[in-house]
Amino acid sequence: MRGATTGEKGTGEKGTGEKGTAETDTAETDTEEADMDGDWRARRAVVTGGAGFVGSHLCDRLREEGTEVVCVDNLLTGSIGNIAARSGDAGFQLDLRDVSEPFDVPGPVDLVFHLASPASPHDYARHPLETLRAGSHGTANALDLAHRKGARFLLASTSEVYGDPLVHPQPETYWGNVNPVGPRSQYDEAKRYAEALTTAYRAALGVDTVIVRLFNTYGPRMRPKDGRAVPTFITQALAGEPLTVAGDGSQTRSLCYVDDTVSGILAAAASGHPGPVNIGNPVELSVLDVARRIRALCGSASPIAFVDRPADDPGLRRPDIGLARSALGWQPVVDVDKGLAMTIDWFSRLPAAG
Ligand SMILES: NC(=O)c1ccc[n+]([C@@H]2O[C@H](COP(=O)([O-])OP(=O)(O)OC[C@H]3O[C@@H](n4cnc5c(N)ncnc54)[C@H](O)[C@@H]3O)[C@@H](O)[C@H]2O)c1
Repeated sequence: MRGATTGEKGTGEKGTGEKGTAETDTAETDTEEADMDGDWRARRAVVTGGAGFVGSHLCDRLREEGTEVVCVDNLLTGSIGNIAARSGDAGFQLDLRDVSEPFDVPGPVDLVFHLASPASPHDYARHPLETLRAGSHGTANALDLAHRKGARFLLASTSEVYGDPLVHPQPETYWGNVNPVGPRSQYDEAKRYAEALTTAYRAALGVDTVIVRLFNTYGPRMRPKDGRAVPTFITQALAGEPLTVAGDGSQTRSLCYVDDTVSGILAAAASGHPGPVNIGNPVELSVLDVARRIRALCGSASPIAFVDRPADDPGLRRPDIGLARSALGWQPVVDVDKGLAMTIDWFSRLPAAG
């Protein structure tokens, strides 16, 4: 199930890792069978944004694999509840701080996963300056940490670097169609700058980096009111309220279950590939279809209510994952209805959603 692979890993001058074989540039690894290899279990990772939605699942998976984890988070959009399962775990440490300020992590570090950033449109609209700082200063500080430690660095970038795409589906070679002063610009341009900075640290300083471009991810621990389509529709359907579909709902999204996204992140980290590499589910659904599926899975009779579409809302979203398949041996394995059902089950247990 877990699509992690073996492959070349960054050496740490102070780290505990050793360089493996560079299998993943060409290997077609079996994503059903492959699991984290023994090297990973001895490793120590820093996860910025580790108390967030994706980051907390990444922390859990790393701990399952025996990797020691330092989670660096200021709880701007994350929560202690997301990492409650790690309470009492001696291999997990929470370091409450803002990564936009310079920081250090004592001891060896083999991997730095940089996820810290507001990520939902509601969050980055509320926190435009924090979003730009997390993408710029925060990325520089996380890269500096990786450089000092001789660690491999992974940047969690986004499909938003493609903006409102003029090429469909989106391959990594597409440069995007982004409004630099639009309502999403603080996020899109922060991530584009973060990619440029990561590329420059690799070229100028030899930092072992990889950029992953995550497409829409969903699953347990999303916040009910974070403004993204899946939690919004689930919350509305469970409450018997109208499902608010933007525009006519014909705009498309591709939804990747969080376990698959985390597998893709780990496969990229375990490879020697620099990226950028798309991590997402190529099954493309209209937003209206997503709303209808969620309504049906919830057994809800809620009506659909069409509301104004936000400015610069992307019309089409679908990753070309050919590179992830060939270079990382990764592809999503969770069927969307199954993933939505697991997510609905989690939401239905939340006190407010019942
Ligand atoms: N969820 C998705 O669909 C998706 C898609 C594309 C990219 N991504 C990327 O994945 C990463 C995680 O996204 P998410 O959905 O889990 O978002 P999230 O908001 O749940 O998690 C982000 C985490 O970063 C923390 N954070 C923000 N600014 C910080 C700072 N300055 N210092 C320390 N911590 C800070 C937040 O408190 C939170 O815990 C983000 O970088 C996002 O851009 C996510």
